[in-house]
Amino acid sequence: MKSKNAVIFAFIFVFFHAVTLAVPAGKIIEFTKNPMGIVIFSGKIHAEKGLKCNACHPSIFSLKKGTAEINLVDHKEGNKYCFLCHNGTKAFAVKDNCNRCHIKEK
Ligand code: HEC
Ligand code: HEC
Ligand code: HEC
Repeated sequence: MKSKNAVIFAFIFVFFHAVTLAVPAGKIIEFTKNPMGIVIFSGKIHAEKGLKCNACHPSIFSLKKGTAEINLVDHKEGNKYCFLCHNGTKAFAVKDNCNRCHIKEK
């Protein structure tokens, strides 16, 4: 009986531990202050691509929403922020892909 409970407990622990790790990554961050159209960053999609938190935090992005001020120079492939990965090698390139990030509002 005891060992059965231990197995169940271990299962629940592992299950919920995985879920709690995934939840912050499930966050959606919207960048809305630019004329090109809002950009939606999906933590879930990035996590599903196998990226751990430390792929972005704290070296590329701080843990506080609204800290990154992303300008057009940053968009140069391999330069800063999103474009360290969105460089045509690790992830889709900037060129010809504006609309994969910038979603026109209505
Ligand atoms: C592919 C990059 C990337 C990965 C991987 C990533 N994040 Fe983030 N995270 C971001 C970006 C972008 C922001 C917004 C930063 C900004 O606005 O300056 C952010 C913001 C956050 C914030 C602040 C949210 C707020 O409302 O202030 C937290 C907390 C966070 N991430 C936790 C995590 C955790 C935990 C993981 C791993 C499960 C993770 N992130 C993985 C890119 C990433
Ligand atoms: C640590 C690397 C990394 C960083 C930083 C990063 N991404 Fe990504 N992103 C990826 C990978 C890998 C994919 C999946 C491969 C692909 O679609 O090219 C992806 C996919 C995407 C997608 C496609 C989602 C879909 O619907 O399939 C969007 C949109 C996106 N990223 C936006 C962003 C934005 C906006 C930022 C910055 C706020 C960002 N990414 C930062 C690695 C990164
Ligand atoms: C990987 C995702 C991604 C791609 C691809 C992308 N952008 Fe962006 N872009 C962003 C993010 C994130 C911001 C910051 C938005 C904000 O703060 O509202 C931004 C901001 C901008 C801004 C405002 C800059 C400023 O100084 O305020 C312009 C203009 C812009 N992008 C144009 C483009 C053009 C043109 C393309 C295609 C050649 C492009 N973007 C492709 C993610 C992307």
